[in-house]
Amino acid sequence: MSVGDKEAVKRRIEGLFQVKTQEEMIARNLRNVRFKVGVISGKGGVGKSTITANIAVALALKGYKVAVFDSDFHGPSIPKMLGVEDASLNVTNDKKIIPVEGPLGIKVMSIAYFLPDKTEAVIWRGPLKKKFFDDLAMYTLWGELDFLLFDLPPGTGDEALNLAQSIKDISGVIAVTQPTEVSALAVAKSINFARKVNIRVLGVIENMSYFICGDGNKYKIFSGDGGKMLSEMYNIPLLGRVPIDPRVAEYGDSGYSILIKNPDSEFSKVFNEIVERLVSILGVE
Ligand SMILES: Nc1ncnc2c1ncn2[C@@H]1O[C@H](COP(=O)(O)OP(=O)(O)O)[C@@H](O)[C@H]1O
Ligand SMILES: [Mg+2]
Repeated sequence: MSVGDKEAVKRRIEGLFQVKTQEEMIARNLRNVRFKVGVISGKGGVGKSTITANIAVALALKGYKVAVFDSDFHGPSIPKMLGVEDASLNVTNDKKIIPVEGPLGIKVMSIAYFLPDKTEAVIWRGPLKKKFFDDLAMYTLWGELDFLLFDLPPGTGDEALNLAQSIKDISGVIAVTQPTEVSALAVAKSINFARKVNIRVLGVIENMSYFICGDGNKYKIFSGDGGKMLSEMYNIPLLGRVPIDPRVAEYGDSGYSILIKNPDSEFSKVFNEIVERLVSILGVE
């Protein structure tokens, strides 16, 4: 054995016995995840969770292995939207948590599975959120994935910071806005936040951009051009403009995705284009 080989063996042994930091343990647990993407926005109700759930479905429909980590501590809605609200988590003998399996094999982990009741208000203090977020990132059996998507609560609070601090090699975030200036300005703060913590903003999605009426015409419901405005202000790609479709809300409440139910809808077409752009921006082959 050469001196170089001996050194390599020594380093490996040291590595095995080294006490790992929380971040290292998370990185180790996520080592087989190719892309980690967060979905952010400055405001609630803009459709962040709807967008996250549908990006997951659109990617899974293209054959990618996908998981969603719903880290909205105060309003976790991914399990309901993906129809796995009543499922429960299992734990392996070596204390790893098996995520729930949603449509198309999408793995789902959510704070919701730890809450006593759907309507219970849990008081989460900042450090507790960080601990819980880290534990779930670290002990969930994510396995081999192409994409791990993080759904976040609105704003630049604890959860967004936890994501930035705990997932060191995050691929980037997608910002979701509505067309209005009020919405776009709030989202601008989230983009600034991401930049401050050195996270790449992969693009912006404008949700609820227009409505297609029965007569086939497009009607703009909300004024403004928030997606374009943010895209130009920050020089980031506009990934797409998503229409309002009442079926999206209805299906969301009953745990279905419109991409599966109505693949020919305008919403589904737009989503396909969004994930194609995303995949190309990330350089996924
Ligand atoms: N493009 C859309 N068309 C119709 N309803 C939508 C659309 N986007 C979101 N919604 C509905 O609006 C509500 C809020 O969306 P949600 O994804 O929960 O927002 P957020 O996660 O940003 O708080 C949900 O009931 C959802 O079904
Ligand atoms: Mg949400």
